Amino acid sequence: PLRPTRDDKFSFGLWTIGWQARDPFGDATRGPLDPVEAVHRLAELGAYGITFHDDDLVPFGSDAHSRDGIVAGFRKALDQTGMVVPMVTTNLFTHPVFKDGGFTSNDRGVRRYALRKVLRNMDLAAELGAKTLVLWGGREGAEYDVAKDVHAALDRYREALDLLAQYSVDQGYGLRFALEPKPNEPRGDILLPTAGHALAFLRELERPELFGINPEVGHEQMANLNFAHGVAQALWHGKLFHIDLNGQHGPKFDQDLVFGHGDLLNAFALVDLLEHGAPGGGPRYDGPRHFDYKPSRTEDHTGVWESAAANMRMYLLLKERAQAFRADPRVQAALVESGVLELARPTLDEGETYRELLADESEFDVEAAGARGYGFVKLHQLAIDHLLRA
Ligand code: GCO
Ligand code: MN
Ligand code: MN
Ligand code: MN
Repeated sequence: PLRPTRDDKFSFGLWTIGWQARDPFGDATRGPLDPVEAVHRLAELGAYGITFHDDDLVPFGSDAHSRDGIVAGFRKALDQTGMVVPMVTTNLFTHPVFKDGGFTSNDRGVRRYALRKVLRNMDLAAELGAKTLVLWGGREGAEYDVAKDVHAALDRYREALDLLAQYSVDQGYGLRFALEPKPNEPRGDILLPTAGHALAFLRELERPELFGINPEVGHEQMANLNFAHGVAQALWHGKLFHIDLNGQHGPKFDQDLVFGHGDLLNAFALVDLLEHGAPGGGPRYDGPRHFDYKPSRTEDHTGVWESAAANMRMYLLLKERAQAFRADPRVQAALVESGVLELARPTLDEGETYRELLADESEFDVEAAGARGYGFVKLHQLAIDHLLRA
């Protein structure tokens, strides 16, 4: 059960295992990785999908001839292995032209260039059968409050996203768009910094039904937020279109550790939620389990593939532990005792109005309700017992 299979829908970004470990303080510690080799290695490890930024696959500035050659070679590797490309994304952050953003750069020429880059990448996404286009606006932001008109920037963001959706509809691509929030890094403050900001923003778009979010474990945790809660809310809105799994130790720089190697307890709650839905009923997540992590700078090529396997192993271990947790009759009893399941029951009876509610003074014993224990600690300890296989 701890051996990954296609049905687990594990996918990896080409930029994750391919990261050469260049950071702001040091040079690369590893050589480049050939995308074709990446497809084969991931397939051998049990992944079903690979994703990329346009420039990860076809280096920035390549001419049409070399582009076609690269895409043909990549497609051949996909065909040989049965690997799929569930998602594609666009690099609007590496080249200096994007230093003040892509869709929301103060420079109108840059904004027009960024749009053309994404439109062309949508052609490639459709060509390779991708269903989802992720939009991470890492450079959409500012360091100085007076240097960015946030009102205008959100107008331009909306203008850009409406255009992309129009293009997908007109071309018959059928893509869905997933906005990826992040609070900071590389900009001091990034627009749409959290899942909540992105969920509110996408309702203002022309075709909100085509837009959802791609939350990342570390990005919410960098803002000291509860990732499992953010995902639960995205599911509640029907907006969990994609997910980036990795590990992070609270508010500090973006660590991109292996999934579960940061906040393990929250990772347990997350896998339980994705696999089973909310305890009182609610949708499960059936999209790709996508890892957006970075093999640490200390690792060599062997360590890269070990860390890739570790992501999938962590997910499957947590899935197994979550299944045991849910199936345990003591857990079911504790869920009842603590009122967790009672929360799924509507507060008013069917057809009841505020009149009947106001008239219902007799029954409720405020003192007794104030004195009751909820047993949350016992329930939580049961979860940890299962996690540790106690
Ligand atoms: C980051 C982001 C990126 C995006 C990727 C997809 O913090 O660097 O998580 O890895 O996920 O650019 O658009
Ligand atoms: Mn990250
Ligand atoms: Mn990400
Ligand atoms: Mn990342």
